[in-house]
Amino acid sequence: MKFAEKLGMKYNNTINEHLSFDDVSLLPRSSDFEPSEADISVWITPEHLLSIPFISSPMDRVTESEMCIALAREGCLGVLHRNCPMQVEVDMAKKVKREEISGIIRDPITVTPDTSISTVIRIMREKNISGLPVLDKSDNLVGIITSRDVIAANPDSPVSEEMTPSEKLVTALEKDILENGKLNTEKVKKLLHLHRIEKLLVLNELKKLTGLITLKDIKRLEDSPHVSRDTEGRLMVAASISPFDHERAIRLDLVGVDILVIDIAHGMNVNAIKSVEKISKDVKAWIMYGNIATDEAAHEVITSDIDKLASLRVGLGGGSICQTTQVTGVGVTTLSATALVAGAVLEHDAKISIVADGGIRDSGDIAKAIGVGASAVMCGYLFSGTDEAPSEKVYIRGVPMKRYRGMASPSAIRERYAIDRYTRGTKKVAEGIEGVVSYRGSVRTLVRDLAAALKAAYGYVGAKNTKEMWEKARYAKRTMVGVREGLPHDVIPETQFQDIYEPF
Ligand code: XMP
Repeated sequence: MKFAEKLGMKYNNTINEHLSFDDVSLLPRSSDFEPSEADISVWITPEHLLSIPFISSPMDRVTESEMCIALAREGCLGVLHRNCPMQVEVDMAKKVKREEISGIIRDPITVTPDTSISTVIRIMREKNISGLPVLDKSDNLVGIITSRDVIAANPDSPVSEEMTPSEKLVTALEKDILENGKLNTEKVKKLLHLHRIEKLLVLNELKKLTGLITLKDIKRLEDSPHVSRDTEGRLMVAASISPFDHERAIRLDLVGVDILVIDIAHGMNVNAIKSVEKISKDVKAWIMYGNIATDEAAHEVITSDIDKLASLRVGLGGGSICQTTQVTGVGVTTLSATALVAGAVLEHDAKISIVADGGIRDSGDIAKAIGVGASAVMCGYLFSGTDEAPSEKVYIRGVPMKRYRGMASPSAIRERYAIDRYTRGTKKVAEGIEGVVSYRGSVRTLVRDLAAALKAAYGYVGAKNTKEMWEKARYAKRTMVGVREGLPHDVIPETQFQDIYEPF
């Protein structure tokens, strides 16, 4: 059965019937496993596995380095926004790639023996770190200074007077603690325990510092076993580009960005496809092309000459902040667009993943999108309320919120960088809005909750993995009464009265 037929979509190229997430529900089917055993991992490119199929939108209130790092650590993927000068996006990508390699902090911040203790205290406070390796002028490791050493020290004295000197340092050779690019955490823990220390300095065979491992990182590694990593053990990161920005693509590729996400509202644009064909010949990164929203567009992109085309980003007008359909009358619901594109990918027997983008509000929507052929979902709204989203937290009538805006909203357009995505040439029409969303805490908790709910959905559908989800998911259309029945009803949620107690 083709994916669109699953939805009972009438599709005859005159007036087609498109369905939205709320229009349908998934049907329960026979299952012989526990939901926790469901495997929701997907290959987003032939080289990149996501343990959890969630991707953040390239939007300036959603994804910068911090979001990418947090999502990669949970087995997801962040896509850096491009609403900034090229160098800023390149630096954000560098930051993710340098964050750690297989649990080792690369490029740790270092000081010299003559740095003052007051400077050390300032760095520790600003960067929220508690230990700094000390290097001499020839980059030889001569000591380490930790927060314990500076508590009662004279702020004017040099580091050399308070540091633990090299002869007392505990170090490890990188080759002794890395096995096939993976950190042997047991070995590291033993060393930390044996010497009653919290930081281990990592050296290469020339005795030069190559990294730092902290007890905190080891605990985090053990707590997040499904980190999204590239083939070198670095955190995975994607970055968005305009289809016409060849230079930015090359600069980001040089940093080692894993996936270049083509960021254009109307991807079925011959000039854009031609330009990406050229870009793809000059980069090593995989390409996620979009946005597209029909099978017709999918055929065009799949048969194009884009090298390393790994993924299609699908949806037009469905986003929470989107005004495209209202302003232009053009749009395809994300669920139907996903089904249509999935059908085309199947017809071509192409090894291309599909990312459903726009309008995903909860785990139920994620399950429905995957059931019609998506490998993963892209979310702006869902992640915009988290700590890691780069926007300020505001209190409205005492309720914590975060700011969120469309990349074609008036203020984003005013910043001049979003213009090529939605307003080609002289057209300057706002196709997005700006507003606030509820604050949701850490993205890690959110991802874990959503992933658990998605596994529950796989359990109901009887799908042990995503391939089975594509095969087994069946849908029923719902009436408005059915939608109401599917939500909590009649009971008044206590939260409705909360603001009575909240101070203004
Ligand atoms: P959600 O629903 O997750 O959607 O907030 C995020 C997606 O919306 C798209 N996007 C826009 N679409 N005008 C639009 O019509 C805009 O200003 C805009 N900004 C982002 C984009 O695909 C994103 O991933």
